[in-house]
Amino acid sequence: MLISCSNNHPVAASAADTSGAGRKWWKEAVVYQIYPRSFKDDNGDGIGDLKGIISKLDYIKSLGVNVVWLNPIYSSPNDDNGYDISDYRNIMKDFGTMADFDTLLSEMHRRNIRLVMDLVVNHTSDEHPWFQQSRSSRTNPYRNYYHWWNAERGKPTPRWSFFDVNSDAWKYDSLTKAYYLHYFSRKQPDLNWENPTVRREVDDIMKFWLDKGIDGFRMDAFQFVAKDTTWPVFPPGYEKDINRYYGMGPHLHDYLQEMNREVISKYDIMTVAEGAGSTLEDAHALVDPDRHELSMAYSFEGINLGHGSPDYSLLDFKKVYSKWDSAFAEKGWLSIFLANHDQPRMVSHWGNDSPAFRAVSSKMLTTFIMTMRGTPYYYNGDEIGMRNIRFDKIEDYRDIATINKYKEVQHKGGDLKAFLQEQQQTSRDNSRTPFQWDSTTNAGFTTGTPWIEVNPDYTSVNASAQENDPQSILNYFRHAVQLRKDNLVLVYGQYTLLDKDNPDVYAYTREGYGKTMLILLNFRAHPATVGPDVDLSHASLQLNNYPDAPSSDTLRPYEARVYEIMPD
Ligand code: NOJ
Repeated sequence: MLISCSNNHPVAASAADTSGAGRKWWKEAVVYQIYPRSFKDDNGDGIGDLKGIISKLDYIKSLGVNVVWLNPIYSSPNDDNGYDISDYRNIMKDFGTMADFDTLLSEMHRRNIRLVMDLVVNHTSDEHPWFQQSRSSRTNPYRNYYHWWNAERGKPTPRWSFFDVNSDAWKYDSLTKAYYLHYFSRKQPDLNWENPTVRREVDDIMKFWLDKGIDGFRMDAFQFVAKDTTWPVFPPGYEKDINRYYGMGPHLHDYLQEMNREVISKYDIMTVAEGAGSTLEDAHALVDPDRHELSMAYSFEGINLGHGSPDYSLLDFKKVYSKWDSAFAEKGWLSIFLANHDQPRMVSHWGNDSPAFRAVSSKMLTTFIMTMRGTPYYYNGDEIGMRNIRFDKIEDYRDIATINKYKEVQHKGGDLKAFLQEQQQTSRDNSRTPFQWDSTTNAGFTTGTPWIEVNPDYTSVNASAQENDPQSILNYFRHAVQLRKDNLVLVYGQYTLLDKDNPDVYAYTREGYGKTMLILLNFRAHPATVGPDVDLSHASLQLNNYPDAPSSDTLRPYEARVYEIMPD
């Protein structure tokens, strides 16, 4: 547990601040992601809402986090749980009213918690008035807000869709005898960013929320907004490397620089791009401070390892995180995360969610997130060790991604049993089940019928049971957050990988601000040792995920240790 921590008083950025861009509040932040639909239901309709979040602000504050990222709360027919927006300036009825939002924001700010909102502008809902107008006739002034392909030209160049039942991103609309583009579902038509009016609309939407006082945006699917509208043919199998073909299209950087000039630079906010292209250079270009685009990016290379299964190679994991760290050591900034609403649960993907190891491996993973360079993003529920629900029938699923993929497999006569088995590990619904507050009915999430089943393990896995247990996953999370906040070296310090070829242990140091911290993480269910380049002779233990202090250099299963290296 937390053994000691010392205070770092703010000092001017030094050589330790290897980002070169100086200190920023958003680099020092710990972001807590809230999936509003599943966090807390206040009105008993079975769906989480803003009043529910307001009722839990003291809990959020108690975690020590200082930024909340809220998944979309705007008006939406909910084809993709709010990522299909029909009115960008309104609150989804399920979630409450604008007055609730205003209260939420002011109550967060009163507690020194900042609010980051999703900005979903690669696409709108097909129920958005822009699209309704756009589809109404070929000459409508909104026609050019979206990508259309007139049928007399024949079939459009094939494009793959994430959520379509046929994986086809072009949908024929008989009203005007034309196809429209939708990288995601049919109800999520893609906006045409080549149209400057669309870009001005987006600027205005951003200003609307920023003028209310929000603190930034997480920019959904942003790397996809720019398309090559000569529609070149992609090679067979391109969908397996989709970021390379869909990401970072022509003019993306121009659009971002324009947005930075018109909006971002006028506010003290953070902006984070979902996805960062397919190369380090792509990612770097998004967040190099000299280019005036975004604050930080999150790359998928780490999160995609193992494809949701815990059978990933730790050597690859170390390689990926070390490579990304070194590419951003001098300039630019990244986020660090192991889960979100599009991924399985952190402990089920990266750790071990069996009863024996759920707690200790959750704590170990938390230690990784809180001791790496980059801004930590932590997904709600992971702080209590929530795990995959593993539905066994399609009727239990709510996510369009799983449901439509099931239909596609069925249609093609594929192996549905194998598909369902795989979804137990990978489906996004695994991380979307209601937050487990306590052991009362529905885990204290709702008095109604929850929109998606509650994980039956809530009777033992819940926040209330962990609140007063000093050894709980929840209290370990609080300590790890505090350790990071107390040690700027963990934010900015130089990262060095040790014991590189150790297949079981991830060992590294962070150096700067007059300190050296040594982090040892055993990713295995068995004891593991570290190599000779790990020197514990002057090491003073600061954080450990076992109740009893280590008695040898051998790491226990999933053991995490954070040491400070003391001067001679
Ligand atoms: C990424 C979001 O995180 C995901 O939940 C959503 O389905 C797609 N973008 C489409 O908006």
